[in-house]
Amino acid sequence: MEDIKDIEQRILEEVSKASDLKALDEIRVSAMGKKGEITEMMKTLGQMSADERIETAKKLNLLKSAVEEALSKRKDILENEALNAKLACEKIDVTLPCRPETQGRIHPVSKIYEEVAAIFGELGFEVAEGPSIEDQFHNFNALNMPLNHPARQMQDTFYIAHDKDKPFEMDDAYVVRTHTSGMQIRTMENKKPPIRIIAPGRTYRSDFDATHTPMFHQVEGLVIDKTTTLAHLKGCLYDFVKAFFELDDIPVRYRPSYFPFTEPSAEMDIGCLKTKTELKIGAGNDWLEILGCGMVHPNVLKAGGIDPDEYQGFAFGVGLDRLAMLKYGIPDLRTFFESDVRWMKNYGFAPLDFSSLTGGLSNNGGQLR
Ligand code: PHE
Repeated sequence: MEDIKDIEQRILEEVSKASDLKALDEIRVSAMGKKGEITEMMKTLGQMSADERIETAKKLNLLKSAVEEALSKRKDILENEALNAKLACEKIDVTLPCRPETQGRIHPVSKIYEEVAAIFGELGFEVAEGPSIEDQFHNFNALNMPLNHPARQMQDTFYIAHDKDKPFEMDDAYVVRTHTSGMQIRTMENKKPPIRIIAPGRTYRSDFDATHTPMFHQVEGLVIDKTTTLAHLKGCLYDFVKAFFELDDIPVRYRPSYFPFTEPSAEMDIGCLKTKTELKIGAGNDWLEILGCGMVHPNVLKAGGIDPDEYQGFAFGVGLDRLAMLKYGIPDLRTFFESDVRWMKNYGFAPLDFSSLTGGLSNNGGQLR
């Protein structure tokens, strides 16, 4: 029989060479499992003489504890190695940017709308939305532009037939809305004063050059209450342009104008400096037209179901695309709608830079470059 010392040496060597936990466990089973080498040797004790049994049992017990100890030490080492290997392959570089740079961009018109909504939201306005395809009542008649009113030609309207199988009747056709002002009527129909809303949306006119596209964007504003005056209109729009252009002060003036649905009507200009190469807003002796506005015409209140003897209000309409061109120095409106990725990369905005009055409207005025 192999000497117990030799057995110990052999097993301990196997243990020290075990390369992983599985191999180590196999050694444990083959030495000390139910049918293991040491277990089998223990079983032979019964056939020995008393003296021999005491002597051999002692040796076997020493062998057993030596093997147990070696197994346990090797197990610790292998477990540690396994953990280190796992940690090494799960290692993360905490200095990497936390998210990959997004490729998508927010279109300048969407950005401008967010900015406008943030400002008027702060002033207590709600957002109202309505259809792009409008009936002539809401787009014209109710806005004090009855049939044959010359202003209806003024607007270069796109008409849409009601029923494609019948001959086209202009009087009865739908239009793609020429302005967002129809939302004044829709709001009055659905809401009792006090009213304070903005209504953004797409608008359409037959026009196409560097500053006009057949589809463009407006935001309508409407305020109605018992004592709303022209002074409120002026204060509100002054606060708006200051916040929008992110300036502490900005010269403004109101020029008398004409819109059938407001009386009196005005156009608001802001002070600027125009040179051959630059447009600087907020300084200089030039003026830039920025929006149309006025006090809601009594006929419009009536058409919306509001008593003009009890209520009065003001309205305004701003072109969002024009605001984007001015604020972000984009020279040609037609490029807004060409879906050119290079243009978007240049003029677009980071998707996670939200506009707010407290956190920054244009997020430090910067597009991503
Ligand atoms: N609807 C007008 C336009 O499209 C703008 C406007 C709105 C003017 C509200 C006055 C009041 O030009």
